[in-house]
Formats: sequence, C-alpha cells, structure tokens
Amino acid sequence: MTLSSQAQDWADRADRALMGTYRRYPLVIERGEGCRVWDVDGRRYLDFLGGLAVDSLGHAPQVLVDAVAAQAGRLIQTSNLLYTIPQVELAEFLVARSPFDRVFFSNSGAEANEAAFKLARKWGKRERGGAYRIIAADNSFHGRTLATVAATGNAAYRTPFEPLPDGFDFVAFNDVDALADAVTEETAGVILEPIQAEGGVNLPSASYLADVRALCDERKIMLIFDEVQTGVGRTGSLWAHTHWGVEPDVMTLAKGLAGGFPIGATLAKEPFCVFEPGDHASTFGGNPLACATALAVQQEIERKDLPGHAASVGQYFMDRLTDLSTKHPQIKEVRGRGLLVALEFHEEIARQVLDAVRDAGLIANALNPRTLRFVPPLIVTQAEVDEAVDILDQVLTGKASALAP
Ligand SMILES: Cc1ncc(COP(=O)(O)O)c(C=O)c1O
Repeated sequence: MTLSSQAQDWADRADRALMGTYRRYPLVIERGEGCRVWDVDGRRYLDFLGGLAVDSLGHAPQVLVDAVAAQAGRLIQTSNLLYTIPQVELAEFLVARSPFDRVFFSNSGAEANEAAFKLARKWGKRERGGAYRIIAADNSFHGRTLATVAATGNAAYRTPFEPLPDGFDFVAFNDVDALADAVTEETAGVILEPIQAEGGVNLPSASYLADVRALCDERKIMLIFDEVQTGVGRTGSLWAHTHWGVEPDVMTLAKGLAGGFPIGATLAKEPFCVFEPGDHASTFGGNPLACATALAVQQEIERKDLPGHAASVGQYFMDRLTDLSTKHPQIKEVRGRGLLVALEFHEEIARQVLDAVRDAGLIANALNPRTLRFVPPLIVTQAEVDEAVDILDQVLTGKASALAP
C-alpha cells in the first residue's frame, strides 16, 4: 500500500530522527479503541498484534485510562527509598495468585530477566558453591540487553554483539536429556519460556516441563520461567506454567501486566529471594503510576475472567484457522494456546500474507519467513476472530497464485 503524503511525511521524519532498529510497517497509527486502531488517514484496522502481546484489555479501556489519570494526579514517582502503596498492593495481588512469595518490579521484560539472572548468580554463590551458569533453550527469546541477548537462543540477535557476557549455555527445547547432559557443577539456573513465543510459538511436550522441574530439584538448580509473553492470561490461564502443573522457582512478567503501561516483575519463592539492600535497584521500577495501572488491569482481567475467555476464544480462533488449512494447502500448521497463536506456511510467504492482510485491514506479525503470529487483546470477540479469519481466507484465496515465495 502506498502511504498518503501525510503518513509518508511522518514515516520520513521517523526514519531520519530515529535509529533504524525496526523494520516498520507502512502505517502511522494515531488512536485505538478495543481491538481496533486507526491510522492518520482514518483507515481502521483490526489489531491482532496487540502492542506485541501487551494490550491485554485492548486500546483505551476505561479502567486503564481512569487508573492512569487518577494515579497521575496523585503521585507518579517518588523513589524506592520510600514506601508507596500501589507497589505493595500490586505485589500482594500477584503473590496471592501465584506460588511466589516476593516481587521485584522493573520496567520491561528484559529487566525482569536481568533481575532473575542476578538472583540465580547470587543464589548460586550462596547455595551452590559459586555456580553461576544459566542454561537456556535454542530458539528462546529473553530480551535485548546484553545479558538477555546472551541468554537468547538465536544467533541473529547474538552475533553482532559478541563477545557477550559469559555464563549462558544452550540446549534444544523439549529435550530433557540434552539438558541433563549440559548441567555441570557450575550451573546455577535454567531459564525457559513455558511456550516459546518469539521463537515460533513452540509448545512443550506433555512431560517436558515436569521433567525439567524434576531435574532441577535433583541437581539443586534454580528453575526460571520467563512468562513475559505467556503470563497474565495470554495462554488461557493466569500463568502458562499451570497448564502443565509445574511451578518454577522464579517467574518473570512484563508485557500484558499493565495493559500497555511499561512494567516488569520478577517473582520468586522465598528460598530464592536472596537480594539484600544494595544488590539490585531500578529508579523507575515499581513506580506508583505503573503499579496502580497494573493493579487496575489485573483486577479487570480477574473480574472478567479474561484467562477463561482467552482459552475459549483462542480455541475458537485455532479451530477456525485449522478449518482454513483444509481449504488452503499453503498452510502447514496452526498451533498455540489461548490467544498466542501461530499459523505456519509450507513456503516462505508469511511476509506477503502479512502485507496483504494489512492492506485488507488486519494487523499481525511474522515470526519468521514461514510463520505468522497472532496475539490480539484478551478481550477479542468471536465476531472479531471471524473477521480476521475471513480476511486471511480472502487473501489466501485471492492471492493464492501471487503468494508463491
Ligand atoms: C518471552 C520474552 N521474554 C522477554 C522479552 C523482552 O521483553 P521487553 O521487550 O519488554 O524487554 C520478550 C519480548 O518479546 C519475550 O517475549
């Protein structure tokens, strides 16, 4: 699609003023409401990208708008040298609904994982004779800071920044024997996404997470689940790990926690809460505005049982996509859980499909040349799912021949 002169002007200015870290879509978005966004020319789109799995309640939900306004008018930021009420209330809310005892708040998923790595290192020093290494999985994604890139099992993200911080090892996902072989006396922790999101929406086998848990117990290793993307209802339960009945020692959250307001959280069981004053900190982490917003969003997620809704509407979405795959042989597989859904093609046509559905009014993203990922807001309706599937159907029908790789 060609941009209007107004949109082109914004895009040109962005390309001049901003570092070129993103391959952006030719869209300049101005506002949103529910599962829809509008561009500067007034065109409307169904948003199945949801701020990259962030906008749990959709765009501009009243509870979030009210929470931000009320807290902004009361207190935005003091410092962590002072107690503030929203931080306590949010920590208590999360602890009461999870197997963890304490929380450290930060501002992003990468920061939440950084805190988990520091916990693992300090715990390893104290409990495991100086063990410091962390084992992660191939195809994982844990963030873009140096340590989280070092823990990310994707060479494309790592290679340009080598040499990376030491202390991270990789094994194949879904292979507990490989993990057992990789454990040494120096291993302090294992970090896994219960469902690998950016790496392709890869689900664990039925027993994998339980087997990993047993191995970590046996070898006395800290198990960290990165639920930055899978947490707070996305996969159809509040935490993805409950699908497999496996509790990690540490869990990290971010994305959907405050429905679009930046926040990160590292939760841990008491024996792993080894930070002492001075060990870790964040100026903005746990600020009253982020915490009050997250609390309001989480209360709404609970009040509306959005994890339950994500489970049912997500299943409906996957069923409809599976039906589509019988009609369109380009589709190889539909997979996911709740509202974390991937559509994989046999050929490398994801980018073309993505562009075509966007021209037809549907925003999503491509995880790799063969795979589209859909992470709509948790409030998405069956009718909106139907609309998205119909757009995909039309694109795959109308452009079947044009979609050759
Ligand atoms: C599983 C997982 N961990 C960590 C991150 C990094 O989060 P952030 O971009 O907020 O630093 C992401 C982001 O996509 C993620 O999906």
